[in-house]
Amino acid sequence: MESYIVEGGNSLEGVINISGSKNAALPIIAATILNPGVSIIKNCPNIHDVKNMFIILEMLGAKINRNIDEVIIDTTNINSYEIPANLMHEMRSSVIIAGALIGRMKKCTFTYPGGCEIGARPINMHLDAFKQLGVDIVEKDGYIICECGKLNSADITLDFPSVGATENIMLASCMADGITYIRNAAREPEIKALQEFINDMGGKIKGAGSNTISIEGPTKFHDIEHKVIPDRIECGTYMCIAAGTKGTLELTNVIPEHVSSIVHKLRGIGNRIDIDHDKILIKAPDRIKSTKIKTMPYPGFPTDMQSQFTSLVTTAKGTSIITENIFENRFKYINELIRMGAVATIEGRTVIVEGVNKLHGAEVDVKDLRGGAALIIAALIAEGTTKINGINYIERGYENIVEKLSIIGAKIKKQ
Ligand code: UD1
Repeated sequence: MESYIVEGGNSLEGVINISGSKNAALPIIAATILNPGVSIIKNCPNIHDVKNMFIILEMLGAKINRNIDEVIIDTTNINSYEIPANLMHEMRSSVIIAGALIGRMKKCTFTYPGGCEIGARPINMHLDAFKQLGVDIVEKDGYIICECGKLNSADITLDFPSVGATENIMLASCMADGITYIRNAAREPEIKALQEFINDMGGKIKGAGSNTISIEGPTKFHDIEHKVIPDRIECGTYMCIAAGTKGTLELTNVIPEHVSSIVHKLRGIGNRIDIDHDKILIKAPDRIKSTKIKTMPYPGFPTDMQSQFTSLVTTAKGTSIITENIFENRFKYINELIRMGAVATIEGRTVIVEGVNKLHGAEVDVKDLRGGAALIIAALIAEGTTKINGINYIERGYENIVEKLSIIGAKIKKQ
């Protein structure tokens, strides 16, 4: 098993080009299933989660060619409707393939994705919505078997604005007769990106970005070319790296509006941030201040930035209070931060961090993707050497992280 070896304590400076968004690319790749034809995807991040998604599509019968700057996905010959159980377990977000397969084939068989590193993550809202669209669901020997003669439109209200459930409903209902409504829909930028992709392909979806989305079906799809939006969480992570290392970074290829809650919090703890079209320049102060954060659905502060911010404020002046409202088990990395000298106490869904003067290097284990990013930030802040094990989690979601960090002066290597 490989690890990262990080020598911390350097102030990082330079330019980072932000990659395409993982959470936008995954549902878009699923959506290519809807059109029995060719989709060309540009700015698609080269990360493990995307590679796993391609493996699933190939197992279903798609042909995929990746060049340097685009991926060509030909789904003409998809003939299977079973999402392989091992890949379903490996990558929970593969559940969004179900909506696309139901849309195209009116059938899909898959297993429960199961709990994961950050919580139980049930899929009850996805299944309830499929039923409302006319899908019969039978559970047998651990498999969920979905089937319908035809899909009907429905007026669906979600109990919580789930990103995955909103995407699954959009994918399946494109092929339903009539107009489907999703109320209390997720409003994340990745939902808007999926709407744009499906509409470019011939779909009639309105309202993404608001809490009511309408999808008019059935759709006659055609081939398209699409560029994936920048990854707002990767952008936020590098901004935290600048803030933690007293650095100055320019982030290019970003959509500043998508990171406004993160920028707001970073300014609040003393960073200077200038925005110019698709660029963000962040200059850190000598010492950041403490903060209070509550994670919320978009446009609130993203749960996917909670770990990185907690790591950042370990050396802030004062006490920070961070509350996780989306996932019930997203503090596993805290014990690793404590091994590096952080002073933090978990009380239910809240972590209280007493800022210390410095962190020190240690050997730490990654338990989940964003917790892994938090440990990289801590290792870059810390004095001495940190060995980060379990880096496969990090590489699920961060493209070329070692190369990108090396360019801005970090001492990091894979071993
Ligand atoms: C997506 C993102 C993930 C992000 C999360 C919240 C992708 C690939 N992943 O995950 O990075 O952290 O949104 O912004 O885009 N829930 C249920 N029942 C359901 C569905 C969800 O109880 O049927 C709960 C979940 O357990 C969680 C909450 O709702 O507590 C939010 O989950 P959801 O928005 O669905 O997250 P994902 O789509 O899985």
